[in-house]
Amino acid sequence: MSRIAVVPGSFDPVTLGHLDVIDRAAGLFDELHVLVVHNPAKTALLPIAERVSLLREAIAEAGLPDNIRVESWSVGLLVDYCTDVGASVLVKGIRSQVDVAYETPMAIVNRNLAGVETVFLLPDPAHAHVSSSLVRQVASLGGDVSPYVPRVVADLLQGESLS
Ligand code: PNS
Repeated sequence: MSRIAVVPGSFDPVTLGHLDVIDRAAGLFDELHVLVVHNPAKTALLPIAERVSLLREAIAEAGLPDNIRVESWSVGLLVDYCTDVGASVLVKGIRSQVDVAYETPMAIVNRNLAGVETVFLLPDPAHAHVSSSLVRQVASLGGDVSPYVPRVVADLLQGESLS
């Protein structure tokens, strides 16, 4: 039986920390779906379709394994997507106790809703401080985000005027 996992997130934009988790998760499962999900609690910078394109380009550019596919999901529960594609595991990166507190209730609810387990991966220490919100803030103030994001994202953010 093929083991399918999903890495969900806003990916607004994808960071090097995300790519590290995606790469390592791809080594643990037969098939990995990277799922761009609308998070109504956050004010988005990039449209979902653009986040999907950037993820695909960044994954190709970094030479990540070919068992990864990138999709988006905007209707219904995350576990509905998992059920649709036969995924039994969600993978999340955990950088701090704040992430643990944020992720724990969601992991319990997702298991209760559909029996989908959540696996947490610790970050590579090089990326432990990187977040999409930090990248958005640095970019909006004219700073250099290239140490934190794939080249395609840095090119886009530094070529764009952000409010
Ligand atoms: O990158 P983010 O914004 O921290 O990702 C959070 C996300 C999108 C994974 C989370 O908000 C989520 O799981 N949304 C799906 C909605 C859902 O299924 N909610 C009920 C169970 S938690």
